Amino acid sequence: MTDAPVVDVRNGDCRELIAAIPSESVDAIVTDPPYELGFMGKGWDASGIAYDVTLWSECLRVLKPGGYLLAFGGTRTFHRMASAIEDAGFEIRDSIHWLYGSGFPKSHDVSKAIDKAAGAERERVYFSGGIASGSNNYGGNGRGVAVGGTKQSGYAITDAAKQWQGWGTALKPAHEPIVVARKPLIGSVAANVQQHGTGALNIDGARIDMGDEYDPTKIQRQSTTPNVNFEASGLIGKEIPIYNAGGRWPANVITDGSIDAEWVRYFYSAKASKAERNAGLEALNTHPTVKPLALMRYLVRLVTPPGGTVLEPFAGSGTTLVAAILEGFNAIGCELTEDYLPIIAGRVQWAQQERANKPESLFPE
Ligand SMILES: C[S@@+](CC[C@H](N)C(=O)[O-])C[C@H]1O[C@@H](n2cnc3c(N)ncnc32)[C@H](O)[C@@H]1O
Repeated sequence: MTDAPVVDVRNGDCRELIAAIPSESVDAIVTDPPYELGFMGKGWDASGIAYDVTLWSECLRVLKPGGYLLAFGGTRTFHRMASAIEDAGFEIRDSIHWLYGSGFPKSHDVSKAIDKAAGAERERVYFSGGIASGSNNYGGNGRGVAVGGTKQSGYAITDAAKQWQGWGTALKPAHEPIVVARKPLIGSVAANVQQHGTGALNIDGARIDMGDEYDPTKIQRQSTTPNVNFEASGLIGKEIPIYNAGGRWPANVITDGSIDAEWVRYFYSAKASKAERNAGLEALNTHPTVKPLALMRYLVRLVTPPGGTVLEPFAGSGTTLVAAILEGFNAIGCELTEDYLPIIAGRVQWAQQERANKPESLFPE
């Protein structure tokens, strides 16, 4: 039996809160910062903190050498966050793309705008049935709003509007990038993992289940595998399994399981449910940008060594903390907005209970 995870939740600006954390005491940072889009008029989503190099410098300081930082970003803004992370001294290692099918386009109808500007009032047309409105969507969190019943629309009136019928200003959102960064190693990765326990990814802990496709008797020749320098490897003619019993190699793409395509079986699929989102609080969770728990569990598992501590500077409703607890890690969470603290407390309590009931299953799904 392993020790129960220790969770430390702090209320305030994460820059000040992290300043009180000892240097090199955190094994991984997995975080969902503001996307700086002013989502739903929230001030916390437009402060510029995601671009603040001092924040990421503090993150760098508290991480052990080789510690990973995974940070979500908006498709329009993550490049500025990634630059700030890099400027703070992190090494950008990769980016993961989280693909989902629940987004709605927040597109401006150009033809309609032309008519409106010309003062040409369109005849109202009503459609029956549910119509998706993108006016309230933040991304892959399943928060697009489906407007049931009717929706006002209309046919183009002016010639210019007719000419621009069918033109808009935005694509349907279907992915969120996650910056994968690492604090520089002290020498080689071999030396780093042995000295600090950090620096490597938990590949076997994050393999993709092959289900019925896995056939332990299936051995393929290495020479059929791409990207191998056979001359140098000395493996020519040797036979090795290309499959691992634990599943496929984790990829830098993760899906929500809603994409119906043959190639999706190569990626981890983190299916979200309302039940998991609200576990521990039922109707209480009003946070507008909740991440799927399965996704956060997979990410913390990928970058945190056994018994390690995960820091989430932007806890929100506490999904990263819940994920860390369920995976058997200690967690430190910072959250600015006091209103979210009871939500975090309820979910953390639920997770600790869950973990206490199933302490032996380190990597359950
Ligand atoms: C995108 S949300 C995180 C949502 C979270 N992943 C979840 O599943 O609930 C970002 C959170 O960061 C918080 N926040 C914004 N600025 C902050 C700051 N300076 N310090 C600490 N938290 C902050 C916001 O209040 C918000 O709850």
